[in-house]
Amino acid sequence: MMDTRPPLAAARDAISAARRIVIFTGAGMSAESGVPTFRDALTGLWARFSAEALATPEAFARDPELVWGWYEWRRARVRAAQPNAGHRAIAEFAARRAAEGSGGVTVVTQNVDDLHERAGGPAAVHLHGSLFAPRCGACGAPGAFATVEPVEPEGGRRLAPPRCEQCGGALRPGVVWFGEGLPEAAWSAASQAMDSCDLVLCVGTSALVYPAAALPEQALRAGATLLQVNPGHTAFDALARFNLKGSAATVLPALLCGNH
Ligand code: APR
Repeated sequence: MMDTRPPLAAARDAISAARRIVIFTGAGMSAESGVPTFRDALTGLWARFSAEALATPEAFARDPELVWGWYEWRRARVRAAQPNAGHRAIAEFAARRAAEGSGGVTVVTQNVDDLHERAGGPAAVHLHGSLFAPRCGACGAPGAFATVEPVEPEGGRRLAPPRCEQCGGALRPGVVWFGEGLPEAAWSAASQAMDSCDLVLCVGTSALVYPAAALPEQALRAGATLLQVNPGHTAFDALARFNLKGSAATVLPALLCGNH
């Protein structure tokens, strides 16, 4: 029989019926917090570069000051940003489900910001690492930022990476660069969540970057329903049972919390 309900209502019913839910987020999740997505054009000192050209081990080896300066500029942008209504809706939804005992919610993110956590949500599985966890590029020891946070100029600047306290090597950002493997613990937590969920909600991801983009497909193969929230077209359009066209901060409060 044809489903004549409006897509938002039908998607809400699918969510209510699901026992285990994974929310899989990408850069669009944080766009309305003012954190640029990876496909946005870079500005200032970075205008000559694409994000893909800066986010590689080769770029860091060639010009560590350029790459460290870019990550410090990005970290400053994230520190100044606030979680948006979409992050808050996910946090409220997860807390409500936990209180009702109506089933687990796992947040798996490709984002390197901390906005899910700052919204008060469950700790997200960070597939691509974090802007806030630098480590030594030589010995791997965890590094720390200066206790007084620097003020980054609007247009960015070159910055020498700090030195490792253990071995004197240069610190590197604690993120996954193009060409690098994903952190094992995060990958296996995400993979297990995908295998055992009945619904995966994809928000603000272009679904172009593998292996992360394969995770929702894995959930589909294991029998889950895929829902998508995105204002644009993505590789998941054809796979999603419901495509809710709109931004994270407008659609998620209505979808997860019934706020219109
Ligand atoms: N709300 C929801 N989605 C949005 C919004 C918004 N306000 N604004 C943009 N989008 C969507 C875009 O339509 C696009 O599909 O967010 C997506 C952003 O795509 P990408 O920039 O490719 O981000 P992402 O999918 O997270 O990229 C994956 O690639 O570059 C690497 O490591 C980086 O984690 C990143 C990964």
